[in-house]
Amino acid sequence: MNLRRSAILREMGLTPLWRLRNSAGTVDAAIDVNASSSEEAPEPDESSQSAHPSAPASRVAEMDWQELEETIHACRACVLCEKRTQAVPGVGDRQARWMFIGEGPGAEEDRRGEPFVGQAGRLLDHMLTALGLKRGEDVYIANAVKCRPPLNRTPEAAETAACAPFLDRQIALIRPRLLIALGRPAAQVLLGREISIGAARGKRFERDGMPVIVTYHPAYLLRNPLDKGKAWEDLCFARRLVEEGG
Ligand code: URA
Repeated sequence: MNLRRSAILREMGLTPLWRLRNSAGTVDAAIDVNASSSEEAPEPDESSQSAHPSAPASRVAEMDWQELEETIHACRACVLCEKRTQAVPGVGDRQARWMFIGEGPGAEEDRRGEPFVGQAGRLLDHMLTALGLKRGEDVYIANAVKCRPPLNRTPEAAETAACAPFLDRQIALIRPRLLIALGRPAAQVLLGREISIGAARGKRFERDGMPVIVTYHPAYLLRNPLDKGKAWEDLCFARRLVEEGG
């Protein structure tokens, strides 16, 4: 890491630094281990499922980006449409090698229409910086559900199922070199089965011929900063996979 980059990271409060060594043993990236841990835990919500027309999965599977995003914005396939300000399709490089998938938009994302722009998003941006990456360049960020679950509760199975065709289409259009699930709900949607992050981290899964890894959600890391070291190990694993072609 050059002096300028190191100074920028320090300026942003990203110290002390976790250092990522490349195969030659030189330090080339760093991540904050001291980000604040004030993100509120998601709270349970009592909202009930009601009847909504479901998304036409076979049609979605043929859409181009424009039609896909318009369809997401207009979607009323589950109850999450009722309280959203707007749907949040995803953001980034449509030819990205790296695709990060979170759980669902929070309040700030619902307001701004972009994923991971709140506190958890700031930590995700730091994680990207540590990998030498930048939002929008070789990185695409999306969520398992595109509309904010009220009170930031975990999306219900019916909601992730209703939104799955959209994520499937985003993945099919991008075909990234690596899919990174941030947290358990995203991992379960990507892998189609129950998993625990503790047991699944460090493993290479596959989905439609694309490698998938799982790591902690940034919001979890804000509440449990001692686990940032494990997340950093996961990112180093991720980088090896991308460099080795998956
Ligand atoms: N948490 C998520 O899972 N996604 C976002 O976009 C923001 C917070």
